[in-house]
Amino acid sequence: MAEATLHFPRDFRWGTAVSSYQVEGHNTNNDWWAWEQTPGRIRDGSTAGLACNWWAQAEADFDRAAAMGQSALRLSIEWSRVEPEPDQWDEAALDRYRQMLRELRRRNIEPMVTLHHFTNPLWMLMEGGWAAPETARRFERYVRKVVQALGDYTDCWCTLNEPVIYALLGYMEGRWPPGKRNMGLAFEVLTNMVRAHALAYQTIHELQPGARVGVAHNMRVFDPARPGSPLDRAAARFQDRFFNLAFLEALLNGRLAFPFRRSRLIPKAAGTLDFIGLNYYVRDRVAFDLRQARHAFGRNFPTPGAEVGDGDYGEIYPQGLFRCLQRLAPTRLPIYITENGVPDADDSRRPRFLLTHLLQVWHALNLNWPIMGYYHWTLVDNFEWADGWSLRFGLFALDPQTQVRILRRSGQLYAEICRTNTLTSDMAARYAPEIKEVLFPG
Ligand code: FCB
Repeated sequence: MAEATLHFPRDFRWGTAVSSYQVEGHNTNNDWWAWEQTPGRIRDGSTAGLACNWWAQAEADFDRAAAMGQSALRLSIEWSRVEPEPDQWDEAALDRYRQMLRELRRRNIEPMVTLHHFTNPLWMLMEGGWAAPETARRFERYVRKVVQALGDYTDCWCTLNEPVIYALLGYMEGRWPPGKRNMGLAFEVLTNMVRAHALAYQTIHELQPGARVGVAHNMRVFDPARPGSPLDRAAARFQDRFFNLAFLEALLNGRLAFPFRRSRLIPKAAGTLDFIGLNYYVRDRVAFDLRQARHAFGRNFPTPGAEVGDGDYGEIYPQGLFRCLQRLAPTRLPIYITENGVPDADDSRRPRFLLTHLLQVWHALNLNWPIMGYYHWTLVDNFEWADGWSLRFGLFALDPQTQVRILRRSGQLYAEICRTNTLTSDMAARYAPEIKEVLFPG
């Protein structure tokens, strides 16, 4: 049996990612809170409630992350706390965020701060939400305030989290607030998000010339169900363009190009990425289907027989992480894996998931692609949007009622990886013996 130790670069960052609504608790001034009030919208009938109680006690979880050897944390700022009414600023909320960032620094954990992670102040929705062109300016005003307040503690900013998911679920499928099903509106939303990102990019650099500014972009792998079928291939290609390419390209070259739409020029957006944040979870097979006009005539499903996460979350496909990195590498921009994880309440898959995905990252690093860090989603089980508490992504299991946390085995494994900055055959033998020979053959 081959024994091996795979080393990661000395300054590689190991962390976890969270978002404000999912962990802070008692955020009652935004669209998700309003959305939750109507029965039937959250799969298990739950609400975010106290979430992980970070507004009061994030520091206890910072201790846990530090004890695991983590050196980075991606967290988000809740717009509706900082600006509860238009142009009214809550200095106490900004103080609390300042304190959190300071506490992270004290533990040698480098914060990456996301400025928008799905939730919006209620007043902003009343003024048209992301479908209104003025929202880009409003966002920029909020960003200016946050960077002025928190800039002493971080220079690493993610403007937007997964804008395509936001537009898709909120404006095309209607499963998330504001519950619209309108392709044209979704296109407006994405256009406005490109503009908002571009304005925020300029403002952050004006205030902090050395800042690193990026987006957290979700990529899925779309493979044709029948690789020999030109129609399946076309449907997969359309979905890929919409989901993976359009938004990112707009920030690289200033042109937002959608399937079935005239592309839009947004020249100010060109060259507004200092890094790319990659959120990677699953692969889809795509079969051509005339009934699926809304999904570019593709029906999506996991590869038959493949392993999937809890709640039919999607196909677990580690090579997909490599394939996404491969597509980003030609941009030559630094890449952070800003999210990657699996819903797995009994932790039967997560140890294996970590080993197989991180092996792909290691392969990618060996090709000299500039991958700077990995943020596992997530530290502690948290409120998973329309899936409520039914999907458990944490390295720690959480009982939201008692707030008791228990480190999962995958958490122990991740701690070993973070502390040693390696992946070893011995870890595979102890945490996922069933795949040791696959990962470390010989
Ligand atoms: C991503 C989101 C994050 C979390 C994970 C599981 O799409 O950015 O908030 O919901 O999925």
